[in-house]
Amino acid sequence: MKLLTFSTLLFFSLIILNSSSTTQAHNITRILANHPDFSTYNHYLSVTHLADEINRRRTITVLAINNAGMQSLLDKHLSISTLKNVLSLHILVDYFGAIKLHHITNGTTLVSSVFQATGAAAGTAGYVNVTNLKGGKVGFGAEDNDGSLHSFYVKSIDEVSYDISVLQISQPLSSADAEAPTSAPSAINVISIMSKQGCKAFADLLRASKALPTFEENIDGGLTVFCPTDSAVNDFIPKYKNLTDAKKVSLLLYHGIPVYESLQMLKSTNGVVNTLATEGANKYDFTVQNNGEDVKLQTKVVTASIVGTLIDQDPFVAYKINKVLLPRELFKVSELAPAESPKPSKKKSNKKGKVDSSADAPADGPGANDEADNQKAADDNNGAKDGVTLMIMFFTFSIWFLVL
Ligand SMILES: *[C@@H]1O[C@H](CO)[C@@H](O)[C@H](O)[C@H]1NC(C)=O
Ligand SMILES: *[C@@H]1O[C@H](CO)[C@@H](O)[C@H](O)[C@H]1NC(C)=O
Ligand SMILES: *[C@@H]1O[C@H](CO)[C@@H](O)[C@H](O)[C@H]1NC(C)=O
Ligand SMILES: *[C@@H]1O[C@H](CO)[C@@H](O)[C@H](O)[C@H]1NC(C)=O
Repeated sequence: MKLLTFSTLLFFSLIILNSSSTTQAHNITRILANHPDFSTYNHYLSVTHLADEINRRRTITVLAINNAGMQSLLDKHLSISTLKNVLSLHILVDYFGAIKLHHITNGTTLVSSVFQATGAAAGTAGYVNVTNLKGGKVGFGAEDNDGSLHSFYVKSIDEVSYDISVLQISQPLSSADAEAPTSAPSAINVISIMSKQGCKAFADLLRASKALPTFEENIDGGLTVFCPTDSAVNDFIPKYKNLTDAKKVSLLLYHGIPVYESLQMLKSTNGVVNTLATEGANKYDFTVQNNGEDVKLQTKVVTASIVGTLIDQDPFVAYKINKVLLPRELFKVSELAPAESPKPSKKKSNKKGKVDSSADAPADGPGANDEADNQKAADDNNGAKDGVTLMIMFFTFSIWFLVL
């Protein structure tokens, strides 16, 4: 009888475990709001939009600095975009709870930070050296700073296993690279960034086109670029060559929107967006449609998915997408899209252009295989949970066997 009760208990713990794997979203602003000594740090995470970056990532470690430490950083009078680089060095794209932190394999490791991951850092700047030291200390240092370890672990503020860990460190990580004055946004070389980050084919089209100046002129005021992968562009080349020069320009302009849209912003605004090719109402626009973590861009002809971020340096951001965006103004809806949207939309977008987020999503296109690392990490994490679930099931089963 007792054993039966025990197995029932195990059964329930199994259910709890499973449900916990579906509620993963964290909110760094809310986590730090409970810790007034980190209010300045929290404030600047929001101002720099890094809070959005932290919230959308999984398997992440935030190295938090208390108000006194932040004051020493603010005394340097860095611009907001430079401060963003410095703070992004404090967000590690791997999970270190207090326990893992004190048991690093071989006692030392280099961890990639968001500063590195967003493409803003040069060379090895953007990696953080984490080293176990004598007496249970853990030291941190920016790699471009000779790996000299000048900041130390203080305490764990909050941990959600293999999702987010928030750790206090004794002082800000100093890095010449992160603190270097950021180039004015207009000095950002769109073509070179795209070429280096896996969008060479699209960059080559843009380089040779009259569309390029329009992209460059928009950077200051905010620009979001959707860059199709090389294979998508290469497949499209025969059709591109078939377009007149003016239509080629329109097609390229169709891949930019004249505002800065972080991924978090894209995820929370469903609806029609105007592009750089838009002239007048309802021309050359497309619909942003979310489906959980996926952001889809729907023209009437094709549906593309965002598969990665090339650079996110407010006010300029570029994403990689898995298909060339084909505007209905240039391509027939029927001839290219049969597999994309077999069923007609039940809900038409209304005059304002906003689309109900509950409108039926189109059948999933290919391209889900080109996922971001953090998604993979989240899957690994789920894999670990599945392992635990299996073990519990096995245990429960053995006990039932004993009872019989
Ligand atoms: C996170 O929490 C803050 C404060 O509670 C709230 O203002 C903000 O909207 C939340 N963000 C998200 C993405 O839920
Ligand atoms: C630890 O050190 C050994 C021997 O130097 C090396 O082969 C191994 O790759 C190191 N492991 C890690 C995770 O750095
Ligand atoms: C981290 O820095 C320490 C001290 O400078 C150095 O001994 C160690 O090799 C560095 N670790 C890595 C992985 O580079
Ligand atoms: C190019 O245009 C012609 C005439 O409009 C059309 O017949 C042909 O199929 C097009 N080729 C491609 C590759 O789209």
